Amino acid sequence: MTERTPFMAGNWKMNLDRKGGLALAAELRDRVGDRKDVEVAIFPPAVYIDELARALAGSPVRVGGQDCCEESSGAFTGEVSAAMLADSGAELVIVGHSERRHVYGETDEQVAKKVRQGLDAGLDVILCVGELLEEREAGQTQAVVRRQTSEGLKLVNEGEMARLVVAYEPVWAIGTGHTASPAQAGEVHSDLREFVAGLHGAHIAQSLRIQYGGSVNPANVAELMSVPDVDGALVGGASLSAEKFIPIIEFDHA
Ligand code: 13P
Repeated sequence: MTERTPFMAGNWKMNLDRKGGLALAAELRDRVGDRKDVEVAIFPPAVYIDELARALAGSPVRVGGQDCCEESSGAFTGEVSAAMLADSGAELVIVGHSERRHVYGETDEQVAKKVRQGLDAGLDVILCVGELLEEREAGQTQAVVRRQTSEGLKLVNEGEMARLVVAYEPVWAIGTGHTASPAQAGEVHSDLREFVAGLHGAHIAQSLRIQYGGSVNPANVAELMSVPDVDGALVGGASLSAEKFIPIIEFDHA
């Protein structure tokens, strides 16, 4: 079986200011050291990427953007292009986060174009998928997650799949304290891997990292990471302090 390096990502959302972000980055730099058995990335607000990327230069902790525009340039007031993120020091971008989909009405079509923009700018892409509570209750989880995955990946070619990570984030688990159980996460993650195998072949699916996101914390991370198809975590609230994020990064001996 392919070895997949665990990937712990901190999505800061619209939190932390310059001073708080720099202090956290300094602590992560220090505590993560040069460990290579786990990959770590932070996703600060776009205005702080440049400074944080400089602060983390030479550290394995990478910096990414939380979103990008689906167009490459032009009259799109307020938007930031993937190339601008890369130019500011970002190495990755999150696309299709549930808050983008459900608060800002982003469509599968836009998500697909954003994935394309991210890849074209040389960024690695975390594609987020996940069902609403009412979709889960209506038995639509598999259909929703599969649709968001196939639509999100529709402009990606096989050779680019190594730069893709999928994050399964059930919307009902985000910021609620209601983490998916290991069984619930495992069911979706293994279905997703099988689905990607159908789209791109077994080899690519085996190498693809699938993160879980939704109320991950130091107390539940080890159990979630023990699920065979869970390859990392996309962490919101608990990524905002070293006190919580470091034990998540160190899940294997937390
Ligand atoms: P929480 O960890 O705060 O539930 O947020 C998860 C998330 O949305 C990460 O992208």
